Amino acid sequence: MAAETPRVFVTRRLQQEVLDRLAALYRVDLWDSDMPPDYDSLRERAALADGVLCLLTDRIDAALLEAAPSLRVVSNMAVGTDNIDLAAATAGGIPVGNTPGVLTETTADYAFALLTSAARRIVEADAYVRAGQWQTWGPSVLLGRDLYGATLGIVGFGAIGQAVARRAQGFSMRVLYTRRSNAPAPPDLNAEPAELDRLLRESDFVSLHVPLTAETRHIIGERELALMKETAILVNTARGGVVDQDALVAALRRGRPAMAALDVTAVEPIDARDELLSLPNAVVTPHIASASVATRLLMANMAADNLAAGLEGSRLPNCANPDVYG
Ligand code: NAP
Ligand code: GLV
Repeated sequence: MAAETPRVFVTRRLQQEVLDRLAALYRVDLWDSDMPPDYDSLRERAALADGVLCLLTDRIDAALLEAAPSLRVVSNMAVGTDNIDLAAATAGGIPVGNTPGVLTETTADYAFALLTSAARRIVEADAYVRAGQWQTWGPSVLLGRDLYGATLGIVGFGAIGQAVARRAQGFSMRVLYTRRSNAPAPPDLNAEPAELDRLLRESDFVSLHVPLTAETRHIIGERELALMKETAILVNTARGGVVDQDALVAALRRGRPAMAALDVTAVEPIDARDELLSLPNAVVTPHIASASVATRLLMANMAADNLAAGLEGSRLPNCANPDVYG
């Protein structure tokens, strides 16, 4: 391969077919591990690269971008880009790719799975059976909450929020939503806009689907949790930072809201001794909402497409900082 062949840093072991695709075109510097590079290694290897294909666990900050004089594109294998300093990338003329759309349905499936498992206490029920506690069918054993006919509040009504609303129709749920803009909901979703406070007061389930930004950090804090119904269930498949986790632990201890089902936490991975994990009314999974075989392959290929476009000097098919093009 000629010396002028672009050099790309790929920060994790990806699906082999995607790595083969990249290796056919570029000099690939692969972080050949299932664990992320530490920040210093990330910065050193990015400094030598023309393009970086990274994951949401990689912090791409201004210092890293400044130390990478040849860098022409950063391609994130995720829709969320809160791990990347987009303003610094734009200032440096570096387009940032992300992977919207291909993970929408898979993530919405998972949000609904978390909602259902919390409402019907599936995780707890499985533990109950395994612990030999199942003695008989009982009229009051492991009673949960109905989805059918309940009110679902969706915070962030973009691609995933709307896909969750579509699923809610199958359960005859009433859907309230809040979003940043006044854009109306597609009429077939039968969803009603509501201010956040009203949504929190009236919902039996609250599902979070906003990106993590300066505006959405801790959008659900002590005050907002106190507005929720005592019987309500909070579902978070967005980002841990959207919820004030200390306030959530205190609220769950008091029993309002009744439960939380979280795919994301303030710090990832969460410490196994974290107080949150000692609560019987919390379900926590390891950031896997988009983790289906098919979707992860689509995401990796979309990230490779963005990387290729950036290296060719073409507009990225999915660009998280379109201002970079002026
Ligand atoms: P999206 O289509 O861009 O939707 C984001 C929604 O959030 C939009 O409706 C937007 O409002 C709303 N929003 C943004 N800022 C807001 C604010 N300050 N207040 C209220 N609403 C606000 O994104 P998406 O594809 O649905 O993804 C959403 C997020 O889910 C991602 O950013 C990512 O962090 C997370 N995610 C997590 C997983 C996982 O594995 N757990 C998987 C995929 C995605 P407008 O519509 O008015 O602009
Ligand atoms: C996953 O969390 C994503 O943002 O794609």
